Amino acid sequence: MLKEYNISVIPGDGTGPEVVAEGLKVLQVVSSKCGFRLNFTHYNLGGDHYKTTGEILPDNVIESLAESDAIYLGAIGHPDVKPGILEKGILLKLRFYFDQYINLRPVKLYEGVDTPLKGKKPEDIDFVVVRENTEGLYAGAGGCLKRGTPDEVATQESINTRKGVERCIRYAFEYCRKRNKRKKLTFCGKTNVLTFAFDLWDRTFNEVAREYPDIETDYAHVDAICMWMVKNPEWFDVIVTDNMFGDIITDLAAMIQGGMGVAAGANINPDGVSMFEPIGGSAPRYTGKQVINPIAAISSAQIMLETLGEYQAASWVEQGIIKVLRDDLKDVAAGKMGYTTQEVGDLVADYIESIKD
Ligand code: IPM
Ligand code: MN
Repeated sequence: MLKEYNISVIPGDGTGPEVVAEGLKVLQVVSSKCGFRLNFTHYNLGGDHYKTTGEILPDNVIESLAESDAIYLGAIGHPDVKPGILEKGILLKLRFYFDQYINLRPVKLYEGVDTPLKGKKPEDIDFVVVRENTEGLYAGAGGCLKRGTPDEVATQESINTRKGVERCIRYAFEYCRKRNKRKKLTFCGKTNVLTFAFDLWDRTFNEVAREYPDIETDYAHVDAICMWMVKNPEWFDVIVTDNMFGDIITDLAAMIQGGMGVAAGANINPDGVSMFEPIGGSAPRYTGKQVINPIAAISSAQIMLETLGEYQAASWVEQGIIKVLRDDLKDVAAGKMGYTTQEVGDLVADYIESIKD
């Protein structure tokens, strides 16, 4: 019996559909090579859909997404829609609804890709950030009083639950063990100022660490992490942190691995429906121009395959990425690749096709 997976596809806004198309192309090729089937169901969501229909994320769509094995997402964000509406209404809503409590962001400098860090080589930049994805400042706690008056008050609170913190930290330890590289987990916080939230994180981290004597542990304040990430990225193997800090440090991390054209991400619920997305955003000014690098989207598809347990397929996709970045692309940045978005997808797909198994 042919193994089958049902994948929900949300191409989304801007250049999302262009890069998703290349991810799907690669997924088609690798799945038929490996002998399993992927059934794709497309959902039209995002800024254009919202502007024409007023719909953001209807309940019946959520219900069908819930039936799928994974969600593959391009980008959400539209220049003519007020910031927050689509982000909160689609992206964050899906993360929360499906309890995707891990945001996984691998940071790897591939051969052939330039880093802005002088003297740093692929072996120096290879770590993974495990970002908590459902709590912290993103929980939506807070409010405002007397809005628009001189007496206005606004609060936005960081919510940290023992359960939420512990499951994230536990995931990071397990991931670090399974990754089996330097076996070092760095906890990134701000224990010197945020003495309630990060006290909970700190105690939980140390308690869970006792169950993982094979993993070396370390701590750094978030501001220091930014400094070390630029100066000594080779110190990191796996970093675990809260939602807001994770959001910020992974943009910095994306730059040191070569930029948004190669930065992949995954929103994971280990027991539920996970969602895979390049972290680059919708890049509206490039829409339809075929200049965006689809490698980030292809790399997200690779993480999807790993999460589904299709390790051989994932490894072939990574081999394709490695080959194309090393031998083919002139540059990873938009418009400088020497190829169109489609051509880059073809290069990866053709290479995978040519691998002798
Ligand atoms: C990301 C993005 C989102 C976030 C936005 C678009 C809501 O920046 O995935 O990092 O802040 O999490
Ligand atoms: Mn972000």
